[in-house]
Amino acid sequence: VNSSTVACIVVAAGRGERLGAGRPKAFVEVGGRTPLEHVARTVALHTAIDHLVVVVPADLVGEARRMLDHAGLSERDGLTSTVVAGGDTRQASVAHGLTALADSDDIVLVHDAARCLMPGQVYERVVEAIRSGHSAAIPVLPVVDTMKRVSDGAVVGTVDRSELRVVQTPQGFRRGVLFAGHEAAIRRGDDAVTDDAGLVERLGIPVHVVDGDDRGLKITRPFDLAVAGALAVDPDVSAGLVDDEATS
Ligand code: CTP
Ligand code: MG
Repeated sequence: VNSSTVACIVVAAGRGERLGAGRPKAFVEVGGRTPLEHVARTVALHTAIDHLVVVVPADLVGEARRMLDHAGLSERDGLTSTVVAGGDTRQASVAHGLTALADSDDIVLVHDAARCLMPGQVYERVVEAIRSGHSAAIPVLPVVDTMKRVSDGAVVGTVDRSELRVVQTPQGFRRGVLFAGHEAAIRRGDDAVTDDAGLVERLGIPVHVVDGDDRGLKITRPFDLAVAGALAVDPDVSAGLVDDEATS
């Protein structure tokens, strides 16, 4: 038994209103599998994560449990999984996931089920950053578009994008740091914060960045679902487009 283990909390308890698919988006098909199945397979087959905590709407706990049991989790020894009901906001759902951690879960990743095609190598990069001594680490991408500040229908300035990054998940934390961030938010009365790293930043704790991956796009609107569906059909092809590492 490991004295120190790595958990990944996957939040999938949103309603998917912007997608408008008629059911929560973690349960919609993306290239033949649901986002929840994609994430479970990635974690099981392409990471060394020990504990998968999946947070879903209360009425879908049973369905999620069955889905995980058929998603290849058993293909790797040493991976356990827990399904819990989420809350009204993403922050609340993460908090519910925190209650399901094992005592040994020292490193905790928080991941959006909506980023279901994020390759395992990014999870591993985040874990490695925490193992190497960072209290928090997040995957980021450079901003490729020109960014402008706009007010009342007119441009008021051009932003220097060289310092800007797009933030993805999974975000990784030393367990105590993530708990402290969430506890401080509750004390402040914040209940709808969507960025866990932001909660940790507010404690004055440095957040390390690692390279993200374009395949980790968040399925938010129908357009994203179409893109993700195309990527999911042949991840090897998309892997060749975005990096020269082996497909994870
Ligand atoms: N999430 C959650 N619990 C909530 C709200 C969101 O677990 N109460 C999760 C979503 O399932 C998703 C991730 O947080 O994996 C990012 O949220 P978002 O993209 O906003 O998903 P939804 O809230 O489902 O979508 P929408 O805001 O369009 O309803
Ligand atoms: Mg939402």
